[in-house]
Amino acid sequence: MQPQRHLLAIEGMYPPEIGQLLDLAESYALLNRSGKTQRDLLRGRTLINLFFEDSTRTRTSFELAGKRLGADVINMSVSASSVNKGETLLDTAATLNAMQCDLLVVRHDQSGAPALLAQKVDAAVINAGDGTHEHPTQALLDALTIRRRRGRLDGLTVAICGDIAHSRVARSNIYLLTTMGAAVRLVGPPTLMPAGAERLGLQVFHDMDAGLEGVDIVMMLRLQRERMTRGLVPSAREFFRFYGLDAARLARARPDALVMHPGPMNRGVEIDSAVADDPARSLIREQVEMGVAVRMAVLDVLGRRQIRNV
Ligand code: NCD
Repeated sequence: MQPQRHLLAIEGMYPPEIGQLLDLAESYALLNRSGKTQRDLLRGRTLINLFFEDSTRTRTSFELAGKRLGADVINMSVSASSVNKGETLLDTAATLNAMQCDLLVVRHDQSGAPALLAQKVDAAVINAGDGTHEHPTQALLDALTIRRRRGRLDGLTVAICGDIAHSRVARSNIYLLTTMGAAVRLVGPPTLMPAGAERLGLQVFHDMDAGLEGVDIVMMLRLQRERMTRGLVPSAREFFRFYGLDAARLARARPDALVMHPGPMNRGVEIDSAVADDPARSLIREQVEMGVAVRMAVLDVLGRRQIRNV
């Protein structure tokens, strides 16, 4: 198996690869808690954050991860609305090559844009979310968060709930969790369900109470109105009534079930604040913390491969 130079998707990754990344990320989580850094690892290397879409958590955690490993980090924000996709991406690639960038973190509203860039730049490319396709580091950080609490991924049942059709987070998580032996249920209205879900071996529920029955993990997703080309949900209030997570619904899951959300949250639309902020049940803050550790692990692995390729 040839080691990958880029991280573009979870689809196609093997359990040992995922397991090794999670083990390394676990060691970075401990290092981060101890307050130590590893500033010599990527010293002299350049990391460029190229974001064509808004981001808070993902961009800042890649920035922090790069800095903790000693890389020079540059943030480039590009307004997605003002770019002519093909041309600008290729122009951008040429610019980045001229700058001798080593690690390129890309977020784009078009699925496949990071893969296209990866063909044109010398840098290692990391997909930080492309359209409705994938968001691999989010799935890795979710897996690390679950594994730290539950000690394993295999044998767990995870319900992914809400706007699944538009969610790159859901797609990456579906690939990762099923590859690592977890059972995945998709819970949401038919209008927000991706086509062919059952073919992937996933259980689909349109009734939230039934979908949450006995699950170990409840993963909530944001209603992504910006990606909807037509009205797929009647109203936020209606959506919450049928698919919002509150304490009564959560009671359907296992008594020790844990709640996750990749952020940004729409409180009162897909999740009730009392559940989101309950330290006994919610892993949402820990997900953000693990985001830095996972991104350090990814930059470490791809940065070293990059050095060997020079
Ligand atoms: C997600 C994204 O951008 O895909 N956010 C994130 O990276 N934590 C999910 C979302 O936007 O709802």
